Amino acid sequence: MGPGIQVFLLLQVLVTLALPEDNGGWVLDRDSPVQEEERCTVDKVDASITYSQFIQQYAYSRPVIIQGITDNVEFQSLCTKQHLVREFGDRQVRLSTANTYSYEKVDVPFQEYVNHLLKPQDLTSLGCDTLYFFGDNNFTEWGSLFEKYTPPPFRIPGTSGAYSFGIAGSGTGVPFHWHGPGYSEVIYGRKRWFLYPPEKTPEFNPNGTTLSWLLDTYPYLSEEERPIECTIRPGEVLYFPDRWWHATLNLDTSVFISTFLG
Ligand SMILES: *[C@@H]1O[C@H](CO)[C@@H](O)[C@H](O)[C@H]1NC(C)=O
Ligand SMILES: *[C@@H]1O[C@H](CO)[C@@H](O)[C@H](O)[C@H]1NC(C)=O
Repeated sequence: MGPGIQVFLLLQVLVTLALPEDNGGWVLDRDSPVQEEERCTVDKVDASITYSQFIQQYAYSRPVIIQGITDNVEFQSLCTKQHLVREFGDRQVRLSTANTYSYEKVDVPFQEYVNHLLKPQDLTSLGCDTLYFFGDNNFTEWGSLFEKYTPPPFRIPGTSGAYSFGIAGSGTGVPFHWHGPGYSEVIYGRKRWFLYPPEKTPEFNPNGTTLSWLLDTYPYLSEEERPIECTIRPGEVLYFPDRWWHATLNLDTSVFISTFLG
């Protein structure tokens, strides 16, 4: 091995060590065509918020991002690419198409999803042609993982929580839809959120992707037509109230879990 090669290898090692975060072995997409919003317009609070403040100020009225309310360091360590593929690679996962209304389902082994289907969103694909791993989890087979997840502590009276876990490539996301209240947390990667209150139905193609909406519709929205938006990263939890419209966009390969309150 010549000295040139040795210096090159040493530099590679140093670059690898110097990376600020390795995203658990999941691809970070720093050159993604989509980036974070210019201005986050979702309220952000820290873990000092009390349950009664949460109920009075947010639970029934507006979304909020709570920072540092859950400690999922251990869960995160179990969600590295290497660990999940080793533990669950041969298990079937159920994939959904990423459009608003028609949910076609496809079952594949988890490792096939990770190795062949998990990739950045193709700009030319429709939402109905994009397969997405989110929800439809087998809580028996994956129970040993989910029991390590610490959900946000604040509950809405009269509801209980149900988890939906997923992993998806950069540029993917779910287009606008609504349902009951809940939380979303990213374990790896960043996820950009777009929200509208129940009375303000957004303009969107239900068969399109969030990415195509962002590129084709969003730039032409007036100030009043803009959604409330923000990007969450590991350590942050986003709460969305009942019936709020929302669309999501993964800015990196993301591992994420929602707690639906129903
Ligand atoms: C979950 O996995 C178990 C064990 O492999 C299997 O018997 C069961 O049918 C699965 N449940 C669903 C809903 O797929
Ligand atoms: C969406 O796709 C479905 C089936 O693929 C089709 O029936 C429907 O007309 C489409 N809707 C729009 C608004 O393009």
